[in-house]
Amino acid sequence: MTLTDTRQAHALGELAAFKARVDELVRTHPVVVDNRYTKWFATGHATRDEVRHLTVQFSVFSHLFVEAQLRKVINAADIESYRAGKEILMNELGVVFNGRADDDGISTEGTVDGSRYRHPAAHFEWLLRFARPLGLEFADLGKRRHGTPSTLFFCDELLRVYGSEDASTAEGASYAVENWAAAGFWKELIAGLSAFKERECPELHLGFWTWHDRVEDQHAAHTADELAEACAEPWFDEERFLTGAAEMLDGVAAFWTGLHSDRLGTAWRAA
Ligand SMILES: [Fe+2]
Repeated sequence: MTLTDTRQAHALGELAAFKARVDELVRTHPVVVDNRYTKWFATGHATRDEVRHLTVQFSVFSHLFVEAQLRKVINAADIESYRAGKEILMNELGVVFNGRADDDGISTEGTVDGSRYRHPAAHFEWLLRFARPLGLEFADLGKRRHGTPSTLFFCDELLRVYGSEDASTAEGASYAVENWAAAGFWKELIAGLSAFKERECPELHLGFWTWHDRVEDQHAAHTADELAEACAEPWFDEERFLTGAAEMLDGVAAFWTGLHSDRLGTAWRAA
């Protein structure tokens, strides 16, 4: 073994050890192992009012997420992550990915570069179309004033942690969000919404939810590579990454425990 080989082997060993710490943190977080709201929702027993409440809170989070994503782009540490951030931002706003179209006719892969902007392709407009059969209109959705304290806590943590000026903190938050999102909550919501659609709302279109579920599976597959790249950067700080990941998961957890409390009629308080 040359000296370079030895150094590389050492770096790989350190990366594996760090990745194990990160994965332990994500895998054992209450929002990943025990999301009581989505578990319950998946049973399909939500009433129309409960589906409406989820829709409004989700619309506030997904609309305000755009703000956090823009902040992430502005604070990006290098041109690659700046561009990766813009892929997500522009897609949220209505620029479709140019990859192969899926069952719903909308691609989950490719790039926004050279692709077209379309008003109805904005994720928020997609959510508006989903919400219409529930009797919810533009003015009912996506504004900060529609958010409960727990939803707003989550949105503010996205701005602060996911959009952080500190690259290690922001990377930790991204890693946490992507791994949480791939852990199955979309599928639980889809299960509950499908049951509700079948029972009393056949005109409901679930495209917003099923598309995000499919795209998330791909995101998670990329996060291990991104972690390896981030670790090799001179600015990288393990502890700040872990703190960013933990704080972001606590923010995510607040959103769901808030919905859980709303359902049971109990008070929600920040942990
Ligand atoms: Fe989205």
